[in-house]
Amino acid sequence: MTLMGLLCSLALSTQFLLLFSSSLFTNCLSLNDSTTTHHHECHQHESNALLSFKQSFIISKYASYNPFSYPKTLSWIPTTDCCLWDGIECDELTGHVISIDLSSSQLYGSMDANSTLFSLVHLQSLDLSDNDFNHSQIPARIGHLSQLRHLNLSQVGETTLSGEVPTQISHLSNLLSLDLRIYIEQLDNPFINRLQLKESTLRSLIQNSTRLEQLCLDFVTISSSLPHTLTNLTSLQKLSFSQCELYGEFPIGIFSLANLTSLNFAENQNLQGTLPASIGNLTNLAYLNLEDNSFHGEIPRSLFGLENLVTLHLASNLFDGRLTLDMFLKLKMLNVLELSFNKLSLFSQNRDVNVTILPPIQTLGLGWCNLAGEVPTWIMNLTTLSFLDLSRNNLQGEIPYFFFRLEHLTVLDLSGNLLEGQIELDMLSKLQKLTILGLGGGNKLYFLEGKNTSNITFPSQIQSLILSSCNFVHFPNFIQHLQELTDLFISDNSIKTIPSWLWNKTTLQTLELSNNLLMGEISPFICNLQSLVYLDLSSNNLVGMIPSCLGSFSQSLQYLSLAGNKLTGNIPQTYVKGNALQLIDFSSNKLYGQLPRALVNCRMLEVLAVSHNHFNDSFPFWLGSLPKLKVVSLRDNEFHGAIMCPLKYTFPQLRIMDLSQNGFSMKLTSEIIMCFKSMIISNKRQLEFKDEINYSGNLFLDIDLSSFSMSNKGVVMDYLGGQYLHHMVAIDLSSNKIYGEIPDIMGSLNRLVVLNLSNNMFTGSIPSSFGKLSNLEVLDLSLNSLSGNIPQQLTGLTFLDFFNVSFNNLSGPIPENGQFLTFDDNSFEGNKDLCGIRLLKKCEDHPKLPLQKPDGDQDSESGSFFELYWMVILIGYGGGLVAGLALGNAFAIDVFRLLEKIF
Ligand SMILES: *[C@@H]1O[C@H](CO)[C@@H](O)[C@H](O)[C@H]1NC(C)=O
Ligand SMILES: *[C@@H]1O[C@H](CO)[C@@H](O)[C@H](O)[C@H]1NC(C)=O
Ligand SMILES: *[C@@H]1O[C@H](CO)[C@@H](O)[C@H](O)[C@H]1NC(C)=O
Ligand SMILES: *[C@@H]1O[C@H](CO)[C@@H](O)[C@H](O)[C@H]1NC(C)=O
Ligand SMILES: *[C@@H]1O[C@H](CO)[C@@H](O)[C@H](O)[C@H]1NC(C)=O
Ligand SMILES: *[C@@H]1O[C@H](CO)[C@@H](O)[C@H](O)[C@H]1NC(C)=O
Ligand SMILES: *[C@@H]1O[C@H](CO)[C@@H](O)[C@H](O)[C@H]1NC(C)=O
Ligand SMILES: *[C@@H]1O[C@H](CO)[C@@H](O)[C@H](O)[C@H]1NC(C)=O
Repeated sequence: MTLMGLLCSLALSTQFLLLFSSSLFTNCLSLNDSTTTHHHECHQHESNALLSFKQSFIISKYASYNPFSYPKTLSWIPTTDCCLWDGIECDELTGHVISIDLSSSQLYGSMDANSTLFSLVHLQSLDLSDNDFNHSQIPARIGHLSQLRHLNLSQVGETTLSGEVPTQISHLSNLLSLDLRIYIEQLDNPFINRLQLKESTLRSLIQNSTRLEQLCLDFVTISSSLPHTLTNLTSLQKLSFSQCELYGEFPIGIFSLANLTSLNFAENQNLQGTLPASIGNLTNLAYLNLEDNSFHGEIPRSLFGLENLVTLHLASNLFDGRLTLDMFLKLKMLNVLELSFNKLSLFSQNRDVNVTILPPIQTLGLGWCNLAGEVPTWIMNLTTLSFLDLSRNNLQGEIPYFFFRLEHLTVLDLSGNLLEGQIELDMLSKLQKLTILGLGGGNKLYFLEGKNTSNITFPSQIQSLILSSCNFVHFPNFIQHLQELTDLFISDNSIKTIPSWLWNKTTLQTLELSNNLLMGEISPFICNLQSLVYLDLSSNNLVGMIPSCLGSFSQSLQYLSLAGNKLTGNIPQTYVKGNALQLIDFSSNKLYGQLPRALVNCRMLEVLAVSHNHFNDSFPFWLGSLPKLKVVSLRDNEFHGAIMCPLKYTFPQLRIMDLSQNGFSMKLTSEIIMCFKSMIISNKRQLEFKDEINYSGNLFLDIDLSSFSMSNKGVVMDYLGGQYLHHMVAIDLSSNKIYGEIPDIMGSLNRLVVLNLSNNMFTGSIPSSFGKLSNLEVLDLSLNSLSGNIPQQLTGLTFLDFFNVSFNNLSGPIPENGQFLTFDDNSFEGNKDLCGIRLLKKCEDHPKLPLQKPDGDQDSESGSFFELYWMVILIGYGGGLVAGLALGNAFAIDVFRLLEKIF
């Protein structure tokens, strides 16, 4: 997990707490509470309907998240006037029930499609938020309640309503507010049953419910672009559509809806748009959150005149332009300013700014914002600051002392800058609210610990400490006194030993110690750390056996990396059922033996890497039953025998299979190829969008797999960052003893980006079906006994950047168009019957096409294309995976056009 992840979860849990303190639940409801003294008695049939509704649920205090929840229906007693019941309101004149508020009422049970609730046709307001409806659907009969003006079915935590929102919801033409939000507590919760709202239903709703003022659909899956007709809803005040999987162009007309106070479209990744100057007309706008989308362009100056703006959250977009500090002085209410991860340049001058009139900012996110030079001094006058992220900039000089006086700080992240100097622990003693401190990564800081650390008042409630690259030669002692520590990142130091007290820190969830100088054996006491989620001891000098408890000591462990040490012996044999392991990386050690069959208990496993060891086993086909397994790397071991996948062992999610440098020996058959059928795209859109999004919530996005690489004559690809795995599809069978013809069917693995079959004993010809591998970028068939021509079909592979067929028995002409113009002679050497303009042997019998030879410029053009393509995906890191992918594709198309032009 990275700090970003941590910050996100912190921000989220803060929001979660706020939820109840500011009674957000009722935010979308604004029915006037008329305090009536005299009223009409309740109608009997309505009373019965309510009682029967009550009876369809049981009371469970676990059904509501609100700490102040209580069972309102307990006061619903048959002999009393229902208009006096808790949560019920009747019309003064007619006595009909017009409002039901059963929010946070500890109701548990299914919503009956024929519930008597729907006979209360006079209802104007219905609030059932924060109860547990046991995954039932919203009944279609909700459409009968045609008088409804306020409907709140929002949920907390895991979804308790599921399925499709019925189209009948669009019959509620009197609606003023509709709230179907889901508040998710933990982002990496495997929430399966989100509510779905069809685009057609949303369109109908917009068409019929023209008076809507508030529409809150956060976390409801919409998966479409936003209907432009939203602009017709001129009464709109609040629109909240975060994480709805929206994509496409944001209807710019929304910024002309004069009564808007709150706009939240966070985390839709593929939502694009610009901010128009007319946004300055939204004088009531208090909340603007477009975090993690693909908005671009400059932030219009008019926005900085919105005096009521409290939250401005534009992080993780593609905004550019220059912002200066004086622009912010009119935003007198501004409390949250998040601009991290854009292409902005900020605040080059701040000397002339009157710092007494800076806004009362509490959350300031300026990570990755091209801030250079000294730390801006005006920050010291933001005395209410509680969250400060200045990470990943180019700030230089010493850490100014004023940081250590900002006593409200809970989060301080300065990591990834060029700061230097000494830090004395005492300096931090004023920051008694600090929970996350990031000083590592890139900075050149030295810690002065002092001798007696036991009574240093280091902020004792620190939970997350990022001290990577901080020049530690000893494990810092003060950590011993941090009782609440959950995440410790202390990689890239020169620590040689782990003190034994660390094994008592049972609150630890993250222990990141990679790239140190750790020596000796791994203490079996490490298994005391039963809350660990993330354990990384890779790239050290650890020796001896892996403690056998390490596979089963923690039910929560998701990430386990011991790669790049000198460990020997067998790997742990026990992996308990129900474990959470997502990544196991034992690569580059001296381990041997078989892969334990108990690994099949790791049902969440996505990556298994054991490359560069001495494992001696047959092909672990049984891993094929793991439903989420994406990467298997067995490279450079002593695996042997046949590759196979018997029935049921289908590797359903496989993206990377690296079996190179082993002793696999068999004829490659069509049946074996079908082991890899997850590498066939059946539905292109699914690959590009849906499929990826499912993983956007889990830890996987944050892991760094830099140590896990697949090398290949001339091509070394680091699967940097988990996002590769969503995209990268590779098969490497090189350097084994595989023989026979390459089956034609291999050409149907159309997801393939990398295919390496080199250094085997393949015979026969290159299948022309390879021409269908339209995503292929690397194809290596060298060092085999292939014969025949190079199929002309391969020239259609527009992304092919690395091609090698050297040392085979190929004959005939080398194709002289498409990408083939860019491959150098080495790709073809050792085939004595190949001919072509660039080989000594010219093709006499074959007339040449009048094609130009590319000059050096064009060569580098396509070379950079390859880099660009992967680079772009990396850039996507900040903007979220899907943004990155989309960008990558867009770039690919651009470059493709460019190449087309050239040729
Ligand atoms: C609802 O009532 C209708 C008839 O009134 C009946 O056909 C249907 O099965 C009922 N559905 C449920 C889920 O009870
Ligand atoms: C609008 O609501 C009416 C009922 O109020 C319904 O009959 C009609 O189908 C709705 N229109 C759309 C487009 O949903
Ligand atoms: C809503 O907008 C669409 C297109 O913008 C327009 O054709 C339609 O007439 C509008 N409907 C109403 C009720 O204003
Ligand atoms: C905007 O709000 C004002 C003041 O509350 C109200 O008078 C006006 O009708 C609203 N405009 C629309 C289009 O609803
Ligand atoms: C909204 O803002 C634009 C540009 O700032 C301005 O030209 C326009 O007159 C404004 N419209 C209204 C209705 O105020
Ligand atoms: C800064 O602003 C304050 C408050 O408006 C004002 O009193 C003070 O004179 C200003 N200082 C300067 C140097 O303009
Ligand atoms: C800004 O903060 C510094 C340090 O706390 C203080 O000395 C200075 O007076 C402050 N300036 C203003 C204008 O508040
Ligand atoms: C530590 O605390 C003791 C007693 O509270 C005090 O005498 C001593 O001076 C303190 N040491 C340091 C380094 O502050």
